[in-house]
Amino acid sequence: MKIQIINGPNLNLLGKRAPGIYGQQSFEDYLKILRAQYPDVQIDYYQSNIEGELINKMQEVGFDYDGIVLNAGAYTHTSIALQDCIRSLKSPVIEVHISNVHQREEFRHKSMISCACKGVICGFGMNSYRLAVEALQA
Ligand code: DQA
Repeated sequence: MKIQIINGPNLNLLGKRAPGIYGQQSFEDYLKILRAQYPDVQIDYYQSNIEGELINKMQEVGFDYDGIVLNAGAYTHTSIALQDCIRSLKSPVIEVHISNVHQREEFRHKSMISCACKGVICGFGMNSYRLAVEALQA
């Protein structure tokens, strides 16, 4: 099984950015733990701060991989281009968020991509990614 994790803008700063909300762990450190939990699953990782690069990566893997775990960061709340992209793919996409966006500012309550995703997981810290991997295996 092949799963692509994609993180959007500012998520390269995990561990440094707002640790009270996003925790103290870098994604690279978390990824080592996640990969060890799923030795039989190929888990690839990509991060970009640039919307078009996220789309390029999704188009690259989205006809071949068994699933995409997408944390689109703030583009979640704005990007019709990401929604169109997700709708174009064959692979299922799970939307994830580290924080519970519904407990935060109102502008974070609206997602432009949920309607195109297979499901949404939010609010479980880094565990949101693991729950998405589980969901893709179910
Ligand atoms: C986030 C929530 C978004 O609202 C925010 O812009 C992020 C991170 C999360 O993982 O909780 O960058 O997607």
